[in-house]
Amino acid sequence: MCCKLLFVLIIHCFIYFIIGQQCSKPVGRQNMQLKDEYINKKTFEDGSTVAFVCDVGYTPVQDSGVITCTAGIWSPLQLICERSNCGSLAEVPNGQVSYPQGTQFGDKALITCNTGYKLVGKSEITCGTQGWLDRLPTCEVAKCLQPSGIANGMFSPRKEDYTYREVVEYSCNKDYTLNGSKQITCEENDTFKPSPPSCIWVECKDPVIPNAVYIDGSRPPHRHKATVIYNCKHGYKMNGQGTLTCDINSQWYPRIPECISNRIYCLVLCILTAACSHLTCSEFLCLESNQSNKSFTCFIHECSCYVYCYIYCVFNSKMLGEPSYSMGRM
Ligand SMILES: *[C@@H]1O[C@H](CO)[C@@H](O)[C@H](O)[C@H]1NC(C)=O
Ligand SMILES: *[C@@H]1O[C@H](CO)[C@@H](O)[C@H](O)[C@H]1NC(C)=O
Ligand SMILES: *[C@@H]1O[C@H](CO)[C@@H](O)[C@H](O)[C@H]1NC(C)=O
Ligand SMILES: *[C@@H]1O[C@H](CO)[C@@H](O)[C@H](O)[C@H]1NC(C)=O
Repeated sequence: MCCKLLFVLIIHCFIYFIIGQQCSKPVGRQNMQLKDEYINKKTFEDGSTVAFVCDVGYTPVQDSGVITCTAGIWSPLQLICERSNCGSLAEVPNGQVSYPQGTQFGDKALITCNTGYKLVGKSEITCGTQGWLDRLPTCEVAKCLQPSGIANGMFSPRKEDYTYREVVEYSCNKDYTLNGSKQITCEENDTFKPSPPSCIWVECKDPVIPNAVYIDGSRPPHRHKATVIYNCKHGYKMNGQGTLTCDINSQWYPRIPECISNRIYCLVLCILTAACSHLTCSEFLCLESNQSNKSFTCFIHECSCYVYCYIYCVFNSKMLGEPSYSMGRM
């Protein structure tokens, strides 16, 4: 009885001793974790050690992360993990480096080149665990290759390459017209802007304007910007503009005008009331500016009789108002 009780007590003490001496899984601070080899263990023997390491992107700033289990208690953890900092990059000649987010792990440095320089390399570099992840780019002075030549024209100066902001000027052969920009400039990204012009053949046909007379100006061939002046003949009125300029599309500008008759044609239609052998009426032209002359003369042959006469006046193919009417003995 006594011996049995003692035995149970000894077992209990033994279990207590064993369990009491073990440590449970230790918990680290922020931004750190147990090394992989300890992660799956639940209990740790007396005297055993474990190590903490900083999370990716964090750097240990104090002591190592090793702790020891002594009589069920872990020794104090000294490790402190701070976000890794890559620090500033070197300067880029003829360029600028900026850190909009900062210089810590995951932050990006942006590199831009001064005007006239082009970036060779990456314009964005990320801070990694072991420092910046890419090499610094360089800023190289912009250089343009010789621009393309043009048909019926040429450019100067002629060189193998051109520096930033250098200007090339085009000209056209005789009788050709330059269409586009006369000058192009070497821009930042090694290209000339705007694109080269072209030399085109501009010729406007001599205008044909019925009932107009040439007054002054260019004689054929009419080239770009040639100007001619026309007026309408007497008795005609201009619809449009009499001064025309030859545009780059070989068209007159503004459009070719028309000369419209400014006369009013009046016709007389007479109906005879009695048998008369023959009737003729004169046709009159009345100037628009003076419509007062509305007298008509009709000649009646062989007999004299009453007539009803209608007078129609027409201007520019349209009848003017109502026909007027008269009756009389002729
Ligand atoms: C050159 O720069 C202009 C803007 O300045 C851009 O539109 C164009 O795409 C660039 N060309 C090349 C080949 O990079
Ligand atoms: C002039 O150049 C412009 C732009 O390249 C083009 O659209 C136009 O058709 C050209 N004009 C003529 C008359 O060739
Ligand atoms: C219009 O006709 C009247 C006669 O009917 C004449 O006296 C006048 O001078 C004319 N005016 C013009 C502008 O021709
Ligand atoms: C009216 O017409 C007639 C016939 O042509 C002409 O003799 C006369 O002078 C004209 N009168 C006016 C005022 O124009």
